[in-house]
Amino acid sequence: MDTFLPVELGHASRLVNHGPTVLVTSAHGGRRNVMAAAWSMPVEFVPPRIAVVIDKKTFTRELVAASGAFGICIPGTSLVDLTYAVGSSSGRDTDKFARQGLRWRDGPVLGMPLLEAGCAAWLECRLIPERHTEDAYDTCFGEVVAAAADRRIFARGHWEFRPDNADLQTIHHLGAGNFVRSGGTLRAAAASA
Ligand SMILES: Cc1cc2nc3c(=O)[nH]c(=O)nc-3n(C[C@H](O)[C@H](O)[C@H](O)COP(=O)(O)O)c2cc1C
Repeated sequence: MDTFLPVELGHASRLVNHGPTVLVTSAHGGRRNVMAAAWSMPVEFVPPRIAVVIDKKTFTRELVAASGAFGICIPGTSLVDLTYAVGSSSGRDTDKFARQGLRWRDGPVLGMPLLEAGCAAWLECRLIPERHTEDAYDTCFGEVVAAAADRRIFARGHWEFRPDNADLQTIHHLGAGNFVRSGGTLRAAAASA
């Protein structure tokens, strides 16, 4: 059963607004790769743009620079070990997709490898050429060109964290392999419907 549904681009920033640790996927020239990133955030509304820190030394950065695109996949709690594993080894000399037995779908716009099993959502992003990124910084900017989320946890443009979807709740890195999961939601009294 396909539980992923497209997310309107106007709502895409909500997928990373709460700071989940993400999986950055990339592909170029017949190679594909995946790494963990704790540092990502929305930066622009229209068109939706996000920033993600991708260390210049990573193989991911090499593939992203070559292809001009990347995927952001948002793992649920069941992928905590996988997230830590792909964030603790480089794909330069090994195929992490094969080693971890990962299945992917090709992104609808840019063909990035996107993970759905165990993930709550994904965003497909076009790299925004940026001189400072190329010269000095690890921060990469991307325009979100497609997004989708598992309707069991993100519906009608909102996260819905409930006891029955704990496996899909997002994970947030505290450092040194320790994570906290999302889920303890609070609602401001003055919030509109
Ligand atoms: C939980 C976690 C979060 C991480 N967050 C980031 C991050 O935000 N930015 C970054 O450049 N590296 C981050 N890393 C490190 C990369 O995932 C790591 O360097 C990875 O091995 C790079 O893989 P690659 O060479 O295959 O691209 C993180 C690692 C872990 C385990």
